[in-house]
Amino acid sequence: MSTPSITRLADYRAPEFLIEKTYLSFDLNEAYTDVSSKLSIVSNPQSGKTSDLFLHGEQLELLSLAINDQPLSSADYQISREVLTIYNVPEQFVLHCKTRIYPDKNTALEGLYRSSGMYCTQCEAEGFRKITYYLDRPDVMSEFETVIIADDNAFSVMLSNGNCLSDSVVDGKRIVHWHDPFKKPSYLFALVAGNLDCLEDSFITQSGRNVLLQIYTEAKDSDKCDFAMQSLKKAMRWDEEVYGREYDLDRFMIVAVDDFNMGAMENKGLNIFNTSCVLAHPKSTTDAAFQRVESVVAHEYFHNWSGNRVTCRDWFQLSLKEGLTVYRDEEFSADMNSRAVKRIDGASFMRNVQFVEDAGPMAHPVRPDSYLEISNFYTMTIYEKGAEVVRMLANILGPENYRKGTDLYFERFDGQAVTCDDFVACMEETSGKDLHQFRLWYSQAGTPQLHISDSYDAERQQYHLHVRQHTPETPGQPLKQALHIPLKITLYGEQGAQDLIIEGKNYGEETVLDICREQQTIVFDNITEKPSPSLLREFSAPVKVDYDYQLQQLQQLILLDSDGFCRWDAVQNLMGRVLHEAIEGDSKEPTQDALIQSLKRLLQNFSAMDMGLLACLLDLPSEHYVASRYEKADPAAISQARTHLQHQLALALEPELLACYQALAGEVAGLSAEAMAARSLRNRALGYLMCIDKAIYRGLAEQQFFHAENMTDQFAALKAMVHAEHAHIEAQHALQAFYQQWQNDALVVNMWLQVQATKPWGDVLRDVRALLEHPAFDKRNPNKLRAVIAAFANQNFSQFHQLSGEAYQFLAEQIADIDQRNPQIAARLLTPLTHWHQFIAPYGQLMKAALDSLSQHELSKDVYEVLSKSLVES
Ligand code: PHE
Ligand code: ZN
Repeated sequence: MSTPSITRLADYRAPEFLIEKTYLSFDLNEAYTDVSSKLSIVSNPQSGKTSDLFLHGEQLELLSLAINDQPLSSADYQISREVLTIYNVPEQFVLHCKTRIYPDKNTALEGLYRSSGMYCTQCEAEGFRKITYYLDRPDVMSEFETVIIADDNAFSVMLSNGNCLSDSVVDGKRIVHWHDPFKKPSYLFALVAGNLDCLEDSFITQSGRNVLLQIYTEAKDSDKCDFAMQSLKKAMRWDEEVYGREYDLDRFMIVAVDDFNMGAMENKGLNIFNTSCVLAHPKSTTDAAFQRVESVVAHEYFHNWSGNRVTCRDWFQLSLKEGLTVYRDEEFSADMNSRAVKRIDGASFMRNVQFVEDAGPMAHPVRPDSYLEISNFYTMTIYEKGAEVVRMLANILGPENYRKGTDLYFERFDGQAVTCDDFVACMEETSGKDLHQFRLWYSQAGTPQLHISDSYDAERQQYHLHVRQHTPETPGQPLKQALHIPLKITLYGEQGAQDLIIEGKNYGEETVLDICREQQTIVFDNITEKPSPSLLREFSAPVKVDYDYQLQQLQQLILLDSDGFCRWDAVQNLMGRVLHEAIEGDSKEPTQDALIQSLKRLLQNFSAMDMGLLACLLDLPSEHYVASRYEKADPAAISQARTHLQHQLALALEPELLACYQALAGEVAGLSAEAMAARSLRNRALGYLMCIDKAIYRGLAEQQFFHAENMTDQFAALKAMVHAEHAHIEAQHALQAFYQQWQNDALVVNMWLQVQATKPWGDVLRDVRALLEHPAFDKRNPNKLRAVIAAFANQNFSQFHQLSGEAYQFLAEQIADIDQRNPQIAARLLTPLTHWHQFIAPYGQLMKAALDSLSQHELSKDVYEVLSKSLVES
């Protein structure tokens, strides 16, 4: 391919023209759709005078073009692959344009496409230009009116954004007219037409307005919408109470579609969801999936303010809406469920996925400064790290000033397209804090590391904490500046948490240290014994901390720390040490003993604990995380050490695990938080027990599988059997029964595919190839690709990293094929290979060879960008 051009933040210019009103009409025919647009265009007073108009447009068939009702001739305009140029336009005019598009042939799932017969759209980030010629950029905000025309009776519902003005039948055609009174960028446009069932409810806003709530699905799924509806109502109430944000239209609609590249989309008044993020039923949905539905429903709803009413000036500001909205949905979930577990999940995700991204060839700042394809920048860095940056701001400001800051932000910029800097400026203005240095979090990529050491002066009763910060080099950013890092700490002594007295001021038992310099030392007075520091409490900043704990300090934190994250972190630290010693061939008994003794004590007291938290504490660090601790990682050694540790823990804790498993049998029914926590702990115990080759545990798993009342328990038992080599006979039996039972439920079938693709033993690559041929597989459906190919490449470390390199080649071949249909998904699948430089020979070389072979193909811009960046030699 010809080298695609780079888009740079530094080149941003205000639009030369604005579109005040957008009038669209869609004529849906079986084989094609005709789109007619009337755009009221004016030249932008904020920008220099020009007379040529450049509109975005891709894969469009132009039928006609007129200005103020005067048809244009071919001399008046020019069409290239991505741009329509109209010469010499007036300062103000109506452009009338007709295009023809082919939704049935749209396999990229961007623009207008069909999914299970229904028409739907996906326009973010730059998909609207596949519908009609337009100024397809977020700083052009317009009032939209949409007319949808189809054969009468072709569809039961025909939806677009906003309010429905009319719905009538003329000459056998049904014509539905929609109007969205709020100005919006084209990426928030949506249209749906299909035969769908609808669940209805209503919500009274804080000012007393009645809002109609609707969730549309295929008829077969109409019994799986209740939970999403309840989640929506909770989210609406929460946003009123916590942010003072009220819903603005009379109607809020959600539509579930099977084929969707992402989780969901916040189109104004008409959210479109991947079925996996909205459908839920206790019989067929795991607790983890319930929580995902709750958080994604909230996330999309929250975008109505953080994203829609106030939107992004350009796509470099993507984290302005995504980071803020993820922070909002995380806090919502923390309020609805266990805050400690939510925070551990968040921290664990950052470490396992975002830190890895930040150390790889695609590393970029929260506000990137260039891209080839914006679709590649819907990343963990933009979303999750962006959310951590907002969280730090909230913590630095404190709840009151933070709320004042968001109030100011929403009020000042309502109806506008703004920047990350505008957001920070509001925080600065309302709090009076200097956030100059803090802004570096938006522009500087890479994960900062805090190297912490300490010393205790018994005579002076002083404790010194020495903190050095360092951010490693990332592509294009060799030199890093010191960041403003909020480090929340507590010091534990024999008698519990100590008062923190710094320079004469008593901060109580917990405080946030502002780490701003490359090196600094904090002196605590009146400390009567050498303490165990509890560092980075609540994961107060997205950084790595390295402090050389003594074993007994870690044990103390594991048992006593009042912060859930720090307890978990202490276990992870201890487990990480055991793994490291094993990988180095230098296993030490005391380390392993300390770990076992700590876990044993926790398990013996399980009934007195937050069981969800205890379940988290029992988790081993992921292979990805362990690998990221090495300059060059040996994947086989890592998998082996991890499997061995799991087995050792199971043997050492066998009686406690079994007692816990059995004691919880009666406490795992229903959807309450307690029941979910009990299930997670009980299933974690089962997972460990199944590492032991004993008939009694196979029996327990089978028993649980066949008698489970809910999907969490049924699936946990299935997974425990499938993933244990000694249970392969039981597993075969269970897999068959599971498929029999659930073959008509696509989302459950995806779990069935996934559990097989992630099996850690046997010839899984062969199994995966077979799954691709299974009737339940569909290579055009992103959820299926994720369930098989992405699951295998991202969640099956030992099987993906084979000495033959065959799995790498397999992935490259699949990507080349998928890229022909769906470039966004293809580019995402590439991630695991891009980390080739992290692995020792021959793995790293074999991964790179797979990338090289992919570069021989004709590639989309999406795949080209990821591939070319990861082939750069560092
Ligand atoms: N904006 C969506 C969200 O965060 C994600 C998305 C991006 C969906 C691009 C589709 C395409 O909720
Ligand atoms: Zn979002």
